[in-house]
Amino acid sequence: MIKKTFLLLTIIGIGACGDVRDSGNPAYEKISKPEDYYKEPHRPQFHFSPEANWMNDPNGMVYFDGEYHLFYQYYPDSTVWGPMHWGHAVSQDLVRWEHLPIALYPDELGYIFSGSAIVDWNNSSGFGDRANPPLVAIFTYHLPEGEQDGRNNFQYQGLAYSLDKGRTWTKYTENPVVRNGGKRDFRDPKVIWHEETERWIMVLAVGDHVEFYRSKDLKTWQYLSEFGQNDGSHAGVWECPDLIRLPVEGEDEAKWVLIVSIGNGGNRGSATQYFVGDFDGQNFYNSHYPERVIWLDHGRDNYAGVTWSDIPPQDGRKIFIGWMSNWDYATVVPTERWRSAMTLPRFLSLFKTVNGHRLRSYPVQELTLLRKKAVELNRQLINVETDWTYLLEGMEDLLDMELIISNVRNSGSFEIELRNDLGENLKFGYDDRTEIVYVDRSEAGISDFHETFAQRHEAPRLSREGKLPVRVMVDKSSIEVFFDFGEVVLTDMFFANAPYNRMTFRAPYDAVLAEGMIYELKSIWR
Ligand code: FRU
Repeated sequence: MIKKTFLLLTIIGIGACGDVRDSGNPAYEKISKPEDYYKEPHRPQFHFSPEANWMNDPNGMVYFDGEYHLFYQYYPDSTVWGPMHWGHAVSQDLVRWEHLPIALYPDELGYIFSGSAIVDWNNSSGFGDRANPPLVAIFTYHLPEGEQDGRNNFQYQGLAYSLDKGRTWTKYTENPVVRNGGKRDFRDPKVIWHEETERWIMVLAVGDHVEFYRSKDLKTWQYLSEFGQNDGSHAGVWECPDLIRLPVEGEDEAKWVLIVSIGNGGNRGSATQYFVGDFDGQNFYNSHYPERVIWLDHGRDNYAGVTWSDIPPQDGRKIFIGWMSNWDYATVVPTERWRSAMTLPRFLSLFKTVNGHRLRSYPVQELTLLRKKAVELNRQLINVETDWTYLLEGMEDLLDMELIISNVRNSGSFEIELRNDLGENLKFGYDDRTEIVYVDRSEAGISDFHETFAQRHEAPRLSREGKLPVRVMVDKSSIEVFFDFGEVVLTDMFFANAPYNRMTFRAPYDAVLAEGMIYELKSIWR
């Protein structure tokens, strides 16, 4: 609804492509004061968010020479979506981020929409040399005038490269490299190196399907195949695909995973689904029934996520980050200086269930660097007669919790409530009868900006184990709950009017909090 105002925003248009710091936006100027840096109400303390103004999708994630690059859809002149740039930040540990100047500005070919980046190790593009391999960004150009004129070919793919560790970027003079023959939605290229065929593969979102292309030099692309018209969810337009190969836990095999975000349309708003199957360098084959829809996250705030390129093989992780918002309400959430944050980085793996393979996602180990104070909870029996409340005083409400709930008499239902002095509360838990896990933000704080915000979000638990491990990361305005070591994940924003300062465990029968650690986390911005 709010989304896809691409057209409307063009009226304010391209004039906004100049130097951001001259934009005259008062929000930008204020942030130079160090004492209030990243201290606004609801400002995430250990998640990435831009210093000021509008951000959406993560883009161009690539690891090179000791740095994780994170680019992102950015509009430096306002806190709502507008002519898109690529903002830029780097990190050495995926935890602490350093803001860098804007990497890509709109030009006469259009706004710079989402895309990816890779290290061109063999200099196949000729943009650098082998001693200094170029970083190549592959992105969508979106030409607002084309859309206004009612044409259908206003999105096409372009390249830019950097020879100085991503600090400065040069656009390829022969852009676009993939032209558009008349498809309204034709965007978000993710490029990977396909070892077996020794080709670059591009996966592109094209309305109700993805298309695969291949290239030897990143400049000339050949169409290969398409996938998805009759697969998965089509509640919204397909966007931001990713194609990754992952080993299956405990098996001697690997499978391909195709991640596809779908724009708002369904009752989840914008959400991310995935397919598990095979890719032979030409076609993707879905191993599941086509009608099966598998969500990557069951909360409402994890969209447009993709994985980092070029993480060294000795590390070998596939690390994912998503935009922690939802197009249903992204432009109206109650933050003033900036809008939106990224999810925590999570590493992905594949595990087997009776219904086929599923993705596990779990916070990267590096995040434990932020742990400051540790509290070990005593074993507790919890039932109707005995709630158990833990006071979080002095914890600054930045939390990383590792809990193990074990059930007795097969009645493992439990609920954990975070609550503040105003009575606002955020709950999560497990219902043993329905085997549903959930996060409930219906009374969590400010929610009047959108009618669907105050809700409880549910997902079926996959594991049949008696013990339920739960990892919970709570920042100023987000909760990420990883059930069963990330087999089921819920990511949700919330906007409390005061810090949650107590935590209550409840259970309708007898549940046991068998183990519990609560860590207070440091801010990454101060
Ligand atoms: C996804 C998306 C992409 C597009 C970008 C524009 O959120 O709509 O498809 O490239 O945002 O900002």
